[in-house]
Amino acid sequence: MQKSNIVVGLDIGTTKVCVVVAEKDEVGKLNILGKGRTDSEGLQRATVVNINKTVDAIKSAVADAERESSIRIKGVNVGISGAHVHCINSNSEISVNQSGVVNASDVKRFLEKAKTNIRYLDIDHEIIHVIPQEFIVDDQEGVLDPIGMAGTTMRGSAYIVVGMKTKIRNIKQCVEKAGLEVNAMTFEPIASGLAVMKKSEKKSGVVIVDIGGGTTEVAIYIDGAIRFSEVIKVAANDVTHDVAYGVKALYEVAEELKIKHGFAYSKERIEDEEILIDGIEGRPCKSFMKSSLTLIIEARMMEIFELIREAVKRSGYFEYLNAGAVITGGGSLMPGTDTLASNILGLDVRTGFPEGVSGGIKGAINNPIYATVMGLVAYSFENSDFQDSDVIDLRDGQTEPVDAEESHPEGETGRKIVDRLKDWWEKL
Ligand SMILES: Nc1ncnc2c1ncn2[C@@H]1O[C@H](COP(=O)(O)OP(=O)(O)OP(=O)(O)O)[C@@H](O)[C@H]1O
Ligand SMILES: [Mg+2]
Repeated sequence: MQKSNIVVGLDIGTTKVCVVVAEKDEVGKLNILGKGRTDSEGLQRATVVNINKTVDAIKSAVADAERESSIRIKGVNVGISGAHVHCINSNSEISVNQSGVVNASDVKRFLEKAKTNIRYLDIDHEIIHVIPQEFIVDDQEGVLDPIGMAGTTMRGSAYIVVGMKTKIRNIKQCVEKAGLEVNAMTFEPIASGLAVMKKSEKKSGVVIVDIGGGTTEVAIYIDGAIRFSEVIKVAANDVTHDVAYGVKALYEVAEELKIKHGFAYSKERIEDEEILIDGIEGRPCKSFMKSSLTLIIEARMMEIFELIREAVKRSGYFEYLNAGAVITGGGSLMPGTDTLASNILGLDVRTGFPEGVSGGIKGAINNPIYATVMGLVAYSFENSDFQDSDVIDLRDGQTEPVDAEESHPEGETGRKIVDRLKDWWEKL
């Protein structure tokens, strides 16, 4: 099987499901061939609560991405998140192979041993990732890439991401019911970090914060390796709920108000003005001052950053964060958030947009809400997760092989018939 030059990321988020199809160009940048985005209604705090709605959203986003890219998608790297995901540090030690030079299979054995060395894994949890942190080859410490180094023993530590089996199975089920294969599954803050952080930041020490709709994800990198991560169950949709409660409006009205007039930092002077809001179900319009809206938003955003600060302090790495923090995800788009974050965290803060992207629809993806999906694509290129059979390239007028059409029928009608037969079979 040939490694594929085209990869696909699928981010099943609390507010949106999005798919990106990308290939690497000659200079190693990600050329976006197509993307699809659909509102998500089947998740709560990044965990699937409605399979059918999630499957429908995946299908719709995939169909759009396929149409735009002229690539038939068969496999994806899907993101996983939620408060059930947590991490364990594990040590490992192996003897280097007989040649005395570390090779890829030594690294594989090292990681396998790190898995078996986990002291305790809940019976209802399973391993999602085993990521090397650093290697010590004989007495040489701080090695990030040991392949090719001479030595007799290799010691070191690995970062092991685990999650609840049932919640992982639900994600896999949704992807498979949408007619796709799960090629890889990546913990979302690791993906977002890969998309928006610079190598120099990871080396200096940095915390990446992805403020999504339902969860806020935190990951810390020191000396180029991941050291800590946590998923917090308070995020930007809670801001919207507070606004709806504060101004007594529908959630959708509050969301619009938040995006249009929202501000996160009350000490920064903004021109105050009166905003008119539609009443619920024909009730009269109400007016609200912009400064009052800021106070509502600020209170919740403060809570989010206080929880992040607590997590960072608990990690024990606060003193090592020389590069400060990078904030991303939709919640980072609220004006004033970087200043508020910097004050509360006591760190330099910048907003992270997906990096290393080229091609025609680069602009459409240049938004922190796409950090995760772009990171999923970047992660698959780094790990060579995709093979030629995972996508079918239909550009330049190429036609789909007959057997592929059968396994993944062209067009909505074909898919609907297969889905109906599946539903009928499941009901039996
Ligand atoms: N311009 C904006 N200003 C303020 N908030 C915004 C803006 N754009 C998006 N948001 C907020 O960002 C949130 C959605 O972010 P994002 O798309 O990263 O979430 P998600 O990936 O779907 O959710 P999660 O990662 O929690 O599963 C929503 O609460 C939305 O209101
Ligand atoms: Mg997200």
